[in-house]
Amino acid sequence: MFNLILFGPPGSGKGTQSAKLVEKYGLIHLSTGDLLRKELKLKTPLGVEAQQFIDKGQLVPDEVVIGMISSALDENASARGFLFDGFPRTTAQAEALDKLLELKKSSIALVLFLDVNEEELIQRLINRAKTSGRSDDADETIQRKRQDVYRKETLPVAAHYDKFKKVIHVDGMAEIDVVFSGLTSHIDKKIA
Ligand code: AP5
Repeated sequence: MFNLILFGPPGSGKGTQSAKLVEKYGLIHLSTGDLLRKELKLKTPLGVEAQQFIDKGQLVPDEVVIGMISSALDENASARGFLFDGFPRTTAQAEALDKLLELKKSSIALVLFLDVNEEELIQRLINRAKTSGRSDDADETIQRKRQDVYRKETLPVAAHYDKFKKVIHVDGMAEIDVVFSGLTSHIDKKIA
């Protein structure tokens, strides 16, 4: 299995680049944000619980998202690999993912970190709010809260993988196709 993490703050382009990467490399896209929004839409008990966190720009409890990822890995047991987007977001999630992959005799090949400055992130999310319909895009205060939570709770995840020299920084400020080329050049090197 060949597994990648696409890492970066809210609005850095993880969803945009994930769609292109899974098509090129035949990986399964696992976005905890997308999985949670599906639950929200269906108004499942998990979705109702998650909504209160998402609407405040807070993280959904670790056990909820780890459970979702564990089920998704089992459901796609014959996959050639996974692209994780928006997960792991805490050190506890990263440690849980390492264990889940170890059980499948696999691991993370690369963590691709999209670098984008905060003002550009907020601008992108304000623009996206016009069309996304996402409740957590509607308000700039919530967007800033998400950036804050990212810095405090999610950035340490990069340090976790840096210990194993798996983190590669890519300029996420460039145009979408240029960012994609930056990502694929690192992935192709790793595959070779
Ligand atoms: P999630 O859905 O994961 O959102 P996020 O990480 O906040 O990321 P976004 O989807 O906002 O941005 P993105 O990086 O995917 O950028 P995008 O490609 O859309 O999480 C939402 C919430 O769910 C969390 O706040 C939390 O509550 C909960 N949650 C999810 N996972 C969790 C977990 N593991 N643990 C706990 N809670 C969890 O791009 C943004 C915009 O910019 C788009 O309009 C796009 O068109 C544009 N754009 C993209 N690239 C470029 C470019 N190069 N140049 C110009 N514009 C660009």
